[in-house]
Amino acid sequence: MGKYNNLNTALIHGGISIDENTGAVNIPIYQTSTYKQDGLGKMRGYEYSRTGNPTREALEALIAELEGGTAGFAFGSGMAALTAVLSLFKSSDKVLISSNVYGGTFRVLDKVFNNFNISYGIVDTSDIAAFERAITDDVKAVMIESPANPLMTITDIRAVSEAAHAHSLTVIVDNTFMTPYLQRPLSLGADIVVHSATKYLGGHSDLVAGLAVVKDKETAERLAFIQNATGGVLGPFDSFLLIKGIKTLGVRMDRHVENAGRIAESLKENGAVKNIHYPGLKDDPGYEINRKQADGAGAMISFELEDGYDTRKFFESLELIMLAESLGGVESLVCHPSTMTHASIPEDIRKEVGITDGLIRLSVGIEDVEDIINDLNTAIERSRV
Ligand SMILES: Cc1ncc(COP(=O)(O)O)c(C=O)c1O
Repeated sequence: MGKYNNLNTALIHGGISIDENTGAVNIPIYQTSTYKQDGLGKMRGYEYSRTGNPTREALEALIAELEGGTAGFAFGSGMAALTAVLSLFKSSDKVLISSNVYGGTFRVLDKVFNNFNISYGIVDTSDIAAFERAITDDVKAVMIESPANPLMTITDIRAVSEAAHAHSLTVIVDNTFMTPYLQRPLSLGADIVVHSATKYLGGHSDLVAGLAVVKDKETAERLAFIQNATGGVLGPFDSFLLIKGIKTLGVRMDRHVENAGRIAESLKENGAVKNIHYPGLKDDPGYEINRKQADGAGAMISFELEDGYDTRKFFESLELIMLAESLGGVESLVCHPSTMTHASIPEDIRKEVGITDGLIRLSVGIEDVEDIINDLNTAIERSRV
């Protein structure tokens, strides 16, 4: 955790928290593309903002400290962060991915990296034996989400990392759903962490951003080169917004998790709801492992309605909770993975991994929990056919 023993303090004072030039307690938005040089080769630490920008650097230092890595990198979106990380690999390498991951992660491998002969395999990483069976000579990395999007499947990050390292694979964890406040994959053995910072880290649904953190220096140098060479960097204003969002991550996550726990219990008691996926429920298959590796179960829940209830009508009957892509903001959102976030995954693969057409994904916000529960219950009641 770097300078501070407690993450709550690091969220506010970690990284580069004071502007050395002025003493400003918020790092200013250095809205500049370039920097005056005092003579040929005489720079004051910066030459061009794709290569380095003080506002972005403060954010990068902060996320590196929070995730316990050697270096952090900020990108224009979660997908740009993941693309830069996947660019560490080369033609004829293969990457294994958890069997339910964000649809865009599948899409970039299937439709972009495949063209460069970097292939992928889908494996249930919650099953270590199945994961080990999938490791062939060409496999160079495994990409895990835990909880995975959208079925909240929990993968034992430590066990997968041990098995992966025995075969010299790089372990990449998409920590978007948990954030470093709840889970620190590098401390569990992973090599690289990626984030859609658009979600909980930003926290207010007002920006699109991505972050990556690496454990070792050599990978840090390679990723710094890729970040500058391919150029998908985060701008100074969004870097500022993200730093501001991260300062309140702890208080927001506490409320998100508390609300989600209450809502999952309430959905469980509702006879119209089936197949609830939430690792905070004691009978969830991922409950024990999640408890061991994380400091909470997050605030993403997915579920289906029983026969006799119309999913479309449910979405249209919600009044407080909004139907929208994305997650992790202060406001509660629902989505329909099979036609929204996971539509880019072909139907047969969706069916195979369990992303049904009736699956509803809920991002629990920090509104009053009774208001959220009432909205859900009323919409379920109105969706009866
Ligand atoms: C788990 C996960 N990873 C990555 C992404 C992609 O991030 P972005 O939308 O910021 O590009 C998302 C977006 O929904 C996501 O849910």
